[in-house]
Amino acid sequence: MSHLLVEKGVKPGVALLRLNRPESLNALNRALVAELTDTLVRLDNDPEVRVMVLTGDERAFAAGADIKEMAEDSAVDMLLLDQFQRWDQIKRLKKPLIAAVSGYALGGGCELAMLCDIIIASETAQFGQPEIKIGVIPGAGGTQRLTRAIGKSRAMEYILTGRFFSAKQAESWGLVSRVVPPELYLEEALNLAAEIASMPPIAVQMAKQAVNKAYELSLEEGLHFERKNFYLLFATNDQKEGMRAFMEKRPPTWQGK
Ligand code: HXC
Repeated sequence: MSHLLVEKGVKPGVALLRLNRPESLNALNRALVAELTDTLVRLDNDPEVRVMVLTGDERAFAAGADIKEMAEDSAVDMLLLDQFQRWDQIKRLKKPLIAAVSGYALGGGCELAMLCDIIIASETAQFGQPEIKIGVIPGAGGTQRLTRAIGKSRAMEYILTGRFFSAKQAESWGLVSRVVPPELYLEEALNLAAEIASMPPIAVQMAKQAVNKAYELSLEEGLHFERKNFYLLFATNDQKEGMRAFMEKRPPTWQGK
């Protein structure tokens, strides 16, 4: 049975993906990660989809990698599986991916949320990298992405103790964009997705790429990347349409060309 529910067109241009292993708090076993990454790549190439939203359920976004599945693996098993290659596919998505987080986002679940472009959290969300408590460390980017998001001192504190932190803390430290009441977090994420989906899609993709470069390149190289893509957008019909529509005082119609 599939543990991932996919709904296309939940709003215009928006696809919703729901992790659905409630009996194990959406623990990310290998089959689920494979299905998730395959689906994200497929939707990334689907012209009907402009923005993707990833969620779990009220109790958990995801409580981490499936501990029961990996408990007895050897280092060689892990090396040969090289499961993190799959996670890298998420990083390479061209279209925006928004995480709508309620309840636990722990270990691989927190890392999955951080791989998304934007995180919207319910007041009930709890984040953490508790791997230390089971004898390992984060493996899908937690030591790097959490540190960049919330700073070294806090990342050290939470990664070395495995303690959880709240949605409010995550918001005040800049890890999540917004915290909303539990009944609103998914709606909020879908509305944001729909708003982004109504923007010119090539510009959206270039803007996403440029923001991500801020993490990977020097300021000089990042500015160069931004500038080249700014110039390149003048090759699109959507740039002409957007600027003409402004001058003609009418709403633009995007072609994605
Ligand atoms: C497998 C899990 C799981 C997990 C929960 N479950 N988390 N199974 N892997 N990561 C299962 C429990 O075994 C239990 O199943 C059911 O889900 C409900 O969980 P409970 O523990 O009974 O719920 P509760 O007492 O409310 O505690 C919730 C919790 C706790 C605090 C979130 O479940 C917990 O600490 N989970 C593990 C969190 C964690 O360490 N995550 C990091 C994993 S390592 P049964 O059948 O017993 O009822 C990791 C490495 C990342 O993520 C590397 C990248 C992939």
